[in-house]
Amino acid sequence: MEALSESTPPSEAFSLEGRVAVVTGAASGIGRATAVVLAGAGARVVLGDVDDAGLAAVAEQITGAGGTASARATDVTRRADVDALVDQGVAEHGRLDIMANVAGIASRNLVVDITDEQLDAVMAVNLKGVLYGCQAAMRVMVPQGTGGSIVNIASGIIDQTAPTYGPYAMTKAAVTILTKTLASEAGQHGIRVNAVAPGTILTDFSLPNFTDEDGRVDEQRKAAFTRTASQYAKLGRIGTGADVAWSILYLVSDAASFVTGQTMRPNGGTAMP
Ligand SMILES: NC(=O)c1ccc[n+]([C@@H]2O[C@H](COP(=O)([O-])OP(=O)(O)OC[C@H]3O[C@@H](n4cnc5c(N)ncnc54)[C@H](O)[C@@H]3O)[C@@H](O)[C@H]2O)c1
Repeated sequence: MEALSESTPPSEAFSLEGRVAVVTGAASGIGRATAVVLAGAGARVVLGDVDDAGLAAVAEQITGAGGTASARATDVTRRADVDALVDQGVAEHGRLDIMANVAGIASRNLVVDITDEQLDAVMAVNLKGVLYGCQAAMRVMVPQGTGGSIVNIASGIIDQTAPTYGPYAMTKAAVTILTKTLASEAGQHGIRVNAVAPGTILTDFSLPNFTDEDGRVDEQRKAAFTRTASQYAKLGRIGTGADVAWSILYLVSDAASFVTGQTMRPNGGTAMP
């Protein structure tokens, strides 16, 4: 895409009017916030997730606010599901400009104890799911001939790992390499590919850190978790889904038209590699 001029109005540089965005993992947390922010910037959003009810609620929230959103039950571990999600976007809106591969799951175990089942499960969602999303997007964006932007969600775990995070960290590190490799292949088509490595973000993803065996939130443990995460962040607070979504808006907007192959870190300053 062409360089923006310094006199381009910011409202234009960050506008997604006329663009079509597919977001996976859109039923909750970072994916949900991303769907809402991109739709607020004018994109028509097509949302995928395994959580049907959550998806419907997010789509309703967006359409209720005057945006355009549709949803499709999507398991990103299935290539055919991801292809069908992108195809739905093209069928509904005639094009695809933005692909946000957000769906992800946690997996924790000591390296010596990682099982095949655990490895397969986390690789299927966090790595294969992102790869399928990249491939489905490229399949449409390349022949479309008008560029595009792909964003893949990695994690701050790539900068600062810790015991038991091995299975998860392995997939997230792989996502950043996938992102750089695809960026080097897709640039000739005007397609930008970037990763986002969020710090600790308070979403359902964090729940295992402070829920009891019966699934109830332990408010004291939640407060302790939030306090610890805030201490690690130089900005002194835990992140929100919206913190990440605004970073994603920048990356997919024309304001980032010279940015590709990068890993952006909305992490409150937790890590500064
Ligand atoms: N929350 C954090 O602290 C944090 C930090 C760094 C990175 N991340 C990453 O951000 C992404 C989003 O996480 P979140 O915090 O919003 O968590 P979340 O649990 O709130 O949302 C994840 C969403 O992914 C969906 N999902 C899970 N498996 C799926 C599958 N097979 N197909 C389609 N959808 C599936 C879930 O249903 C859920 O809606 C993940 O990739 C996660 O690894 C989160």
